[in-house]
Amino acid sequence: MCGIFGYIGNSNALKIIMNGLRKLEYRGYDSTGVALLVNNKLYIKKSIGNINTLNNKLHYDNHLSILKQANIGLGHTRWATNGKVTVRNAHPQVDYTKSFSIVHNGIIENYNDLKYTLLQKKYSFKSQTDTEVIINLVLEHYNGDLFNSVQQTLSYLRGSYAIGILCKYDTQRILCAKKDSPLIIGIGNGENFLASDVYALLPYTNKMIFLENGDIAELYKNNIKIKKQDGTDKELNICVIQDSVNINLSNKTQYKYFMLKEIYEQPDTIKNTYENLLNNTTQIIMKLNNIQKIYILGCGTAYYAGYVAKFWFEQFTKIPIEVDIASEFYYRSLILNSNTLVILISQSGETADTLAALRFTKTKQCISIAICNTFKSSISCEATYVLYTSCGIEIGVASTKAFTSQLTALFILSLGLGLQTQQITKQQYTQYLDELYQIPDKAKTILQNIEGIKKIAKVFMRKKNVLYLGRYINYPIALEGALKLKEVSYIHAEGCATGEIKHGTIALIDNTIPVLVILTKGKTYKKTLINIEEIQARQSLAVILTNNINTSLIKKIHYVISVPQTIELLSPILNVIPLQLLAYFTATFLKHNVDQPRNLAKSVTVE
Ligand code: G6P
Repeated sequence: MCGIFGYIGNSNALKIIMNGLRKLEYRGYDSTGVALLVNNKLYIKKSIGNINTLNNKLHYDNHLSILKQANIGLGHTRWATNGKVTVRNAHPQVDYTKSFSIVHNGIIENYNDLKYTLLQKKYSFKSQTDTEVIINLVLEHYNGDLFNSVQQTLSYLRGSYAIGILCKYDTQRILCAKKDSPLIIGIGNGENFLASDVYALLPYTNKMIFLENGDIAELYKNNIKIKKQDGTDKELNICVIQDSVNINLSNKTQYKYFMLKEIYEQPDTIKNTYENLLNNTTQIIMKLNNIQKIYILGCGTAYYAGYVAKFWFEQFTKIPIEVDIASEFYYRSLILNSNTLVILISQSGETADTLAALRFTKTKQCISIAICNTFKSSISCEATYVLYTSCGIEIGVASTKAFTSQLTALFILSLGLGLQTQQITKQQYTQYLDELYQIPDKAKTILQNIEGIKKIAKVFMRKKNVLYLGRYINYPIALEGALKLKEVSYIHAEGCATGEIKHGTIALIDNTIPVLVILTKGKTYKKTLINIEEIQARQSLAVILTNNINTSLIKKIHYVISVPQTIELLSPILNVIPLQLLAYFTATFLKHNVDQPRNLAKSVTVE
């Protein structure tokens, strides 16, 4: 988690770094810091809280006028892993002589052993972080050559890192290195940049170098050198990012929060994903042969996208399929081989649990397809094939538009595989695609009718618990609806299979708990009606989300959320949108910052 931004050039490094960090804040926001080099002196400024807090603090800093002179520096926005949220644990960290400074994203697994060795040598530590150990190791190995000491230090580290290092004896360069955490160099004119993602760099340059595992880079004002860990030179592999990544997408414009903006972008993001993936998917499918088993893996919202898709793959391909939480997958005793297809879903493409699952399946020769939203992310680079969802950056920590785009991609993939395995006809394939094609317009009508949802949010905001029920393909949507509410409103919510509540959860139901039931036209409709009766008999406040309301039902129900009709198989893509809005309004009525919910981070790069 954590975001890194670095700058070297002729401009005000502090200003550029603070702007860069704002774009990376979604990666963590419990504390922030910058390290700047001016006249051979290192200035470190840190604060608990997000960028605004540091910014306000800097306004009153005695050194502000000096800091503004810096042309070289590093910044960091943190999501705590090793060590509590304190100023001491915030990055940048320094060695005990305060000569070297480091920002780090990742986790060093053997830092306790390394720290012990350094303590024996009378090194002292001020923080509880693994990062402080790295920078003291740099000091330990320093004999006048910064590159050499970083190179030696890295050979001791186990775990993951994207790091940037400054040294007060070596003021014309930033050293950086990467293993299993993203780090990208932005190439400017007489200036160079360093960041954890593409979007933070795009305001300055579209020429980038995606560092690879084991790379150590030296950033000078007018030059970049990249070496492998053994010290041999590497050619610069420069990528020019095309405007497919729309920069405007990262501005909030008229919306108060990115989460709302991203919910409203869904008609476009679903459509873009549809249009961009049709051909790519066919090309990948042509390369797949004799798939005998499919596993879909992901975490959080991405896992729920996989859960919905399980039903599509089952119906269209008849290939046995399972969906699993990425962090649970490794412990199972499974038969995995080259006839196993693993589909990894990840918005960020950096989620450590999903990446670890991918790597594990690669050791078993499985074929993998990544569904990712982030260009050149670790998962998209390491999977056999990648399908990019075309959402633009998603900044709100609670995933919304990425989810519906993942569903769009998975629907297209499952249909394509169904066609290739001859389990569906070309005519069926076309009919299903036509239905999908109509989803963006239907999503628009949901987004135009939000008053009813706001009324329900006004009720939910006063509750301690909410129950979400869904059956069959909408069970994962009940889980996702509950997750959304929990994430941003901090109200306890539970998703449950509608038919399952009578086996336990119904014990919770009384007039204090609202129950939201997804009632979709199709094979689950009649049974769900019976379940609604059971809930009502327990005096619960019932909210029905439906695309087929009948008058007798309206009389009995407290609140109804209407969604447009579609085939049952595609109903999850529409049904989730009101649930996203409901979570958003409930949380904002409670005055929560929905873009930065407490304790969460957008990209979770620790297992
Ligand atoms: C974090 C985020 C969730 C997200 C999950 C998976 O927990 O807070 O919103 O669903 O990671 O992220 P990914 O980038 O792999 O889709």
